[in-house]
Amino acid sequence: MTELVEADAEGIERAAALIRAAGVVGMPTETVYGLAGDATSDEAVAAIFDAKGRPPHNPLIAHVLDLDAAIRLGRVDGRARMLAERFWPGPLTLVLPLRPEAGLARAMTAGLGTVAVRAPAHPVARALLAAVDRPLAAPSANRSGTLSPTRGQHVAQSLEGRVPLVLEGGNAQVGLESTIVDLTSSEAVILRPGAITAAALAEVLGFPVHHSEGRPDRPTAPGQLLRHYAPVHSLRLDATSCSPTEAWLGFGGDPPGPCAHRLDLSPDGVLEEAAAHLFAYLRRLDQLDVSCIAVAPIPEDGIGRAIRDRLVRAARG
Ligand code: TXA
Ligand code: MG
Repeated sequence: MTELVEADAEGIERAAALIRAAGVVGMPTETVYGLAGDATSDEAVAAIFDAKGRPPHNPLIAHVLDLDAAIRLGRVDGRARMLAERFWPGPLTLVLPLRPEAGLARAMTAGLGTVAVRAPAHPVARALLAAVDRPLAAPSANRSGTLSPTRGQHVAQSLEGRVPLVLEGGNAQVGLESTIVDLTSSEAVILRPGAITAAALAEVLGFPVHHSEGRPDRPTAPGQLLRHYAPVHSLRLDATSCSPTEAWLGFGGDPPGPCAHRLDLSPDGVLEEAAAHLFAYLRRLDQLDVSCIAVAPIPEDGIGRAIRDRLVRAARG
């Protein structure tokens, strides 16, 4: 049984008690919902991998309250400090050299010698971190390979019977997972695009930041190589037509033809709004009896790059 509870003080205390006992809970963050457990507990981390059906070679992000807590887990240099000071708490994950004395469960980092850390901004995630007072492992709270959850309800559906408690904290504001930037070499390399763009990172760092995508000579996040966001229906991207048997996922305009069903990610063509709606709308369209989901062209700029990244992966799945 999975219980969906309101993320008030009582709900947060119940979640904290479960985590202290090496259990797992669904928790809202500003990006997507996470499946949270004690990152220092082998038992809790094993329970996370098990509930998600996640391959063991795919490491987890350690969530912390602030830079001070991150410094205990990874080696923070001047670049990491500048980025954390500018973007934390928020949708940015830093990959750092792991401190051997960090005390994290071995499976957390999949033996990589590096650790991914993020300080989330969502008040419920922060309250839970403060109550538990240890780093939280929190992958997106979905079965491995499926769409990420942006409401507590999605978690309860995706992990029904696999997680005892889910905190309902409403719609995730950003709607896409955090930007992951690798700082373990002399460069800064984006392993997963998100709300914080290469340009925004470069402005703080004072040097160019590149994406690892399509560059075999650059590092990757193990998770980015896996099947992802797989909807039941096939997706047709950059669609400029729509047929009466298809569902239409639009961006700032009507479908170019008759369709079986339609949703618009952002009627006014605002990319941040489209990002916030993306996973929830794909879920809705996926439940319909249609031949395919036709997706309108999404501009590449700003968070558009991250939206397109998720769509391309979903289409591949
Ligand atoms: O926004 C987010 O980051 C959400 C919320 C819940 O915080 N979490 C999230 O976790 O998206 P997950 O597990 O779904 O994705 C984490 C990604 C995976 O692709 C994983 O391979 C990568 O981060 N990762 C974790 N540790 C890494 C490391 N040490 N080096 C490279 N990539 C790493
Ligand atoms: Mg995920």
